[in-house]
Amino acid sequence: MDSHVADVWFRVTDLEVVSGSGAVVTAVDGTEYLDFTSGIGVVNTGHCHPDVVAAIRDQAGRFIHAQVNVYRHPLLEKLGVRLDEVTPDGIERFFYANSGAEAVEGAVKLARQVTGRPHLVVFQGSFHGRTAQTMAMTTSKIGYRAGHAPLPAGVFVAPFPNPFATGESQADAVARCLAELDLVLATQTAPGETAAMVIEPVLGEGGYLPAPPGFLAGIAERCRSHGILFVLDEIQTGFGRTGRFFACEDQGVTPDVLIMAKGLASGFPISAVGSSAELMRRWPTGSHGGTYGGNPMGCAAALATIDVIDAPGFLDDVRAKGARLTAALRGLADEHPALGDVRGPGLMVGAEIVDGAGKPDAARAGAITRHCVEHGRVLFMTAGSFGNVVRWIPPLVATDEQLDEGVGAFARALAATG
Ligand SMILES: Cc1ncc(COP(=O)(O)O)c(C=O)c1O
Repeated sequence: MDSHVADVWFRVTDLEVVSGSGAVVTAVDGTEYLDFTSGIGVVNTGHCHPDVVAAIRDQAGRFIHAQVNVYRHPLLEKLGVRLDEVTPDGIERFFYANSGAEAVEGAVKLARQVTGRPHLVVFQGSFHGRTAQTMAMTTSKIGYRAGHAPLPAGVFVAPFPNPFATGESQADAVARCLAELDLVLATQTAPGETAAMVIEPVLGEGGYLPAPPGFLAGIAERCRSHGILFVLDEIQTGFGRTGRFFACEDQGVTPDVLIMAKGLASGFPISAVGSSAELMRRWPTGSHGGTYGGNPMGCAAALATIDVIDAPGFLDDVRAKGARLTAALRGLADEHPALGDVRGPGLMVGAEIVDGAGKPDAARAGAITRHCVEHGRVLFMTAGSFGNVVRWIPPLVATDEQLDEGVGAFARALAATG
């Protein structure tokens, strides 16, 4: 036996790391790497932000686990107040869980309980998690579902506009996908049996694909007219990632239910489901819960994280860095036809790698990310249904110099793998 650790996790690298600070992680041999994975979009405030570390240290000495069914601790309400301030209008009461998938499950249970309806509509290419229910809602890649059947029933998949893949204009792609959604409601799940439509404003695992203008609004409109809950999964897009606290702020839509995790607490496992007070009141007491939800350490880490992101100028800076990064990558795309598309808001940028025929080139994307680790000491992950999108998801505190270093490594990798 060569290890006591399960092999089921796929690996991006074979590195063993001992510490992290800001955008940098240090391996056991002392080598430093720029971590442009942010632990899959989690450490938006950087590894071990001093304010988050201080909050966790302080809280650990007072209370590590104050079980929410047995008694309440003050940070539960304090975090609720802060989340109310930073989330879209109408999102004002919160259920706490531990992981993203658990929060999605919670949102689904809430939707079914308050509407009394069984079905869900999700969108092609989405990723909502790895539990049974959330696997059934996930279509970003076959590996997340294969071998796990039977998955829970009652999930219907509508298309998500992908103008780069289909060659349509954004407006045509949106119109077609909304017409297909109407067809799903006319032929597969009756509106009166549909509890919720659940969507990521920017597909994450599905390839860093933003919903084009008008798509979310079209879904929200259909939800309102049929009494279906409009649920946004902002697990990967939330907490400053797109240059706003939440990506939906740029889309002119407000969800009935908002799902949060990842960036919420800079790496401490805590997630949340938010909705109006009226909706939460209708979720029958005792019908959901969990041992660790609302853990005081997680709440303390989340409160410190929110303060960092909410500081004056922080999100302006993210938008400025995102624009600079996108411009640099678009410059590279002019030189390298293999860089077929550069897209995404803020510091959530997808770089789609294609072959000479314009088709997804996962082998090249893999070669590029390996070259970046080995020669540039920069860590990237890929995304997309065909694994050919290099995702740029650096900590939001990465400096211009660090971002330039990443672009340099990526440019050399593009040239070396051509
Ligand atoms: C949009 C989205 N939803 C849900 C999840 C699942 O979160 P977790 O891995 O914490 O269960 C993820 C994780 O990548 C995600 O990106």
